[in-house]
Amino acid sequence: MTSVLITGPTKGLGRIATLAMAARADRPDLLLVGRNLAAVAAEARALGATVHEIETDLSRLADVREAAASARKLVESGAVRPLHAIVGNAGAMSSDTRQASADGYELTFAVNYLAHAQLIGDLAATLAEPGRIVLLGSNTYHQNFWRGLLRVPPAQWRDPLEIARPADADATPGLAANGTAYSNAKLAILYYAHELQRRVRPGIGVTVFEPGWMPGTSLGRGAPAAAQSVARGLGRIPGVSTPEKSGPLLASVALDEKWAHLRDGAFVLKDHVIEAKPVAHDRQREARLWAATGELLARG
Ligand SMILES: NC(=O)c1ccc[n+]([C@@H]2O[C@H](COP(=O)([O-])OP(=O)(O)OC[C@H]3O[C@@H](n4cnc5c(N)ncnc54)[C@H](OP(=O)(O)O)[C@@H]3O)[C@@H](O)[C@H]2O)c1
Repeated sequence: MTSVLITGPTKGLGRIATLAMAARADRPDLLLVGRNLAAVAAEARALGATVHEIETDLSRLADVREAAASARKLVESGAVRPLHAIVGNAGAMSSDTRQASADGYELTFAVNYLAHAQLIGDLAATLAEPGRIVLLGSNTYHQNFWRGLLRVPPAQWRDPLEIARPADADATPGLAANGTAYSNAKLAILYYAHELQRRVRPGIGVTVFEPGWMPGTSLGRGAPAAAQSVARGLGRIPGVSTPEKSGPLLASVALDEKWAHLRDGAFVLKDHVIEAKPVAHDRQREARLWAATGELLARG
């Protein structure tokens, strides 16, 4: 008897996770936060779910605040059942780090991280206990052999106010810069999850979900057409993750009893908890990110 709010339910992982939740016997009411929600809302309703569409551009903090206010109103008025989970799934990889959000922040950082920090900050008090906050991470925050081979850049952490600044007009755009911005945003999510757990009510558990590499989703839509076509091909290799495989696992982390114990930004890779690398645990960076986020959201 619960409601779940999910961002980015229209495509890829989020769409499959939304439909997996809508198809459950204990189906939650669904609060969908994103753009152009009508099609996925209709699909979820066809499966029997009660669905509320909250049209939101996550690259505009004013929109995000409005979305949180709408969700709060739905819960407080009893129009939906108590909110027990927030799934911050939406993500984007900007094709040019000079691009700014409506509030003047680097787009990848704004959508993946800042929008969710705003939404969760505004809704934390509305979340019922026991409650879950599930954020979307990515293993790209650190380098390994395969990512090195594929030239996927790891995070290069800097002060969050600098990370939030779009690249200079004369900067060279390209896959390396875009990848670093994406990895920084995902490392920020890990730091934020650890700090958030220390600050929310004890009945709320914070988790970071990593769906595995799902080549060919629209996350890479800004990449050159040839790279997108290679990615779609890679997505067909057996064993590689896809939204169809990982979406139900994300729904499970949000709802299943077997994950009720997760806390402290536990890093769930598909269906098992893994240890995040030491770089993802840094009390100083986590505290600094929290303070800088307050500044960025207040300015936005
Ligand atoms: N694909 C992978 O290999 C991979 C690996 C690890 C983690 N992840 C993470 O998994 C999550 C889902 O990724 P995906 O591959 O399923 O990506 P996707 O297919 O591109 O889906 C992303 C979702 O986010 C929404 N979104 C993006 N920008 C938005 C904005 N400004 N306002 C509102 N909604 C916005 C998209 O809606 P619009 O179409 O309206 O933009 C879409 O619904 C992301 O957080 C991603 O970082 C993905």
